[in-house]
Amino acid sequence: MATEIAVRNATLADAPLMAVIHAHSFDGPSDHPWDEATMAQFVAAPGVICLIGVVAGKDAGGLLIARHAADEAELLTLGVMPACRRTGLGRVLLTRAVDDLHASGATQIFLEVADGNMEALTLYRSFGAAPVGRRPGYYEDGADATIFSLALSDRRSDDGPIADEPFKDQR
Ligand SMILES: CC(C)(COP(=O)(O)OP(=O)(O)OC[C@H]1O[C@@H](n2cnc3c(N)ncnc32)[C@H](O)[C@@H]1OP(=O)(O)O)[C@@H](O)C(=O)NCCC(=O)NCCS
Repeated sequence: MATEIAVRNATLADAPLMAVIHAHSFDGPSDHPWDEATMAQFVAAPGVICLIGVVAGKDAGGLLIARHAADEAELLTLGVMPACRRTGLGRVLLTRAVDDLHASGATQIFLEVADGNMEALTLYRSFGAAPVGRRPGYYEDGADATIFSLALSDRRSDDGPIADEPFKDQR
């Protein structure tokens, strides 16, 4: 049976839930979870989209926050709680964000990924994201990040993901 996934725009009342999802999605020692006040600011900010995704039958969920200005957008965070991973929730959240940002006039989404984060790298690559730069020591534990760009200009909302490519230029 197919997994039932629902995605909605977050409201201010969702700020506590967003903080919980973020804290449980990023559980590494160097990750500072964003608190309720931070989440409320994102929800209220112009040009920011905040999406919450839930999987039927599970308490947990996922979260995506992206900022949009003119024709560029930045993926600020995408996290799925461990209990909901590999259900397709991350892909559904990213698909919805891509569609919403494209509809708002964005032609490009930038995002950073820590080297070695194979789950995220595989997901973003499957959408056609390509490396465009590096941020050495970007994370608090000293890990480097690769900046990716995902072009939206020639993308239609029903295109779906594209085939993966090898990871040869990850570093
Ligand atoms: C990255 C993340 C959001 C993926 O969420 P998810 O709901 O598990 O992803 P999905 O089930 O939608 O999978 C989408 C694709 O991601 C890739 N993927 C996800 N988990 C993977 C894994 N463990 N190994 C390899 N590829 C993986 C696959 O390409 C997958 O497509 P497929 O199922 O058709 O093979 C989730 O692992 C997460 O929250 N990680 C911790 C936070 C994080 O690193 N966020 C990204 C910051 S840049």
